[in-house]
Amino acid sequence: MIFALETSCDETSTSIISPEGKILSHIIVKQSDHEKFGGVVPEIASRSHIQILQKIIPQTLFEAGMEISSINAFCSTCGPGLIGGLLVGSTVAKTMAIANNKPFYPINHLEGHALSVQINKKIDFPFLLLLITGGHTQIYYVHKIGSYKLLGTTIDDSVGETFDKVAKMLGMKYPGGPEIEKRAIQGNEKKIQFPKPLIKNNDFNFSFSGLKTAVRLKIIKEKNKNNSFTNDVCASFQNTVIEILLRKTEMAIEYVNENFPKINNLVVAGGVAANMQINKSFISLCKKHSLKLAMPPKELCGDNAAMIGWACLQRFNLGYKGDINFKPRPRWGLEELNDEILVNKI
Ligand SMILES: Nc1ncnc2c1ncn2[C@@H]1O[C@H](COP(=O)(O)OP(=O)(O)OP(=O)(O)O)[C@@H](O)[C@H]1O
Ligand SMILES: [Mg+2]
Repeated sequence: MIFALETSCDETSTSIISPEGKILSHIIVKQSDHEKFGGVVPEIASRSHIQILQKIIPQTLFEAGMEISSINAFCSTCGPGLIGGLLVGSTVAKTMAIANNKPFYPINHLEGHALSVQINKKIDFPFLLLLITGGHTQIYYVHKIGSYKLLGTTIDDSVGETFDKVAKMLGMKYPGGPEIEKRAIQGNEKKIQFPKPLIKNNDFNFSFSGLKTAVRLKIIKEKNKNNSFTNDVCASFQNTVIEILLRKTEMAIEYVNENFPKINNLVVAGGVAANMQINKSFISLCKKHSLKLAMPPKELCGDNAAMIGWACLQRFNLGYKGDINFKPRPRWGLEELNDEILVNKI
């Protein structure tokens, strides 16, 4: 039985995962105090995590019908993320572990997103991963747990951040991704031609800052900023992002097919994977390359403790031991896990 905490950004979440990998209880509280600032305020997030955790930890045990003494290991996201939130979550989880004489596992948030798709479905390793979140846009060849090969990454903004900033320019609320998706349905995706930075480059890297600037200039220049203009900006912007993601992922699929052990699955995970238009577009790409598309259910796309508990359970089952002295890290790449796992193995 794993008790997991997720506090790396503005969701406060707790979960209990059974030894079979079933989610016995799961609470996600999206902090709403940030909306009026148009983005996450780290200090407010940390304080809110403290207040929310006090309420939801007992609720989590209650929902699972469990005493804390039945928990075998405690874990929390230890990075990457906002350091204040990471400190709150890890201090609480470590305290619970010490008080109950059980191990504490520091979990990498990106490993949580990467493996989240396996909670409800059997997806075999190796697979290709497109990780699209508020902080990251990366392509990995996931060989197995603890063996991650980074193929490409954004050289500036992440795709989620770009959605949020474009939404802010259009006066929409935070987080902007779901708002843009809603408006895009009513817009014409061919109406505005936006640039697709790095699309012709022969690598798997992304760049979104030029696209963001192009959207900003388009908005500034437009005299008649009516609903239909906003809808068209949203549709054209979203379509441009999708074309970039599809092109780079397709290049990575071709590269992996030639250079690495065979994959059967493309996994698209992270908060932005909740976008239905992205989902539809990747179904066609996968068909073309005889791959299965695996995307987590919507509730497991954004930040959540179930994916952290799941990643912890995999490590627990593989014989990795906990590390009560682990210091949370604001930056902590997936590839950095490759050596650390070997060091921490029993
Ligand atoms: N339907 C959607 N369409 C596009 N983007 C979306 C949608 N739903 C959520 N997002 C975006 O997902 C992002 C949040 O994802 P997530 O919670 O995985 O990121 P994060 O935890 O902040 O970053 P990281 O995981 O890299 O630390 C936000 O930028 C949000 O706008
Ligand atoms: Mg995240």
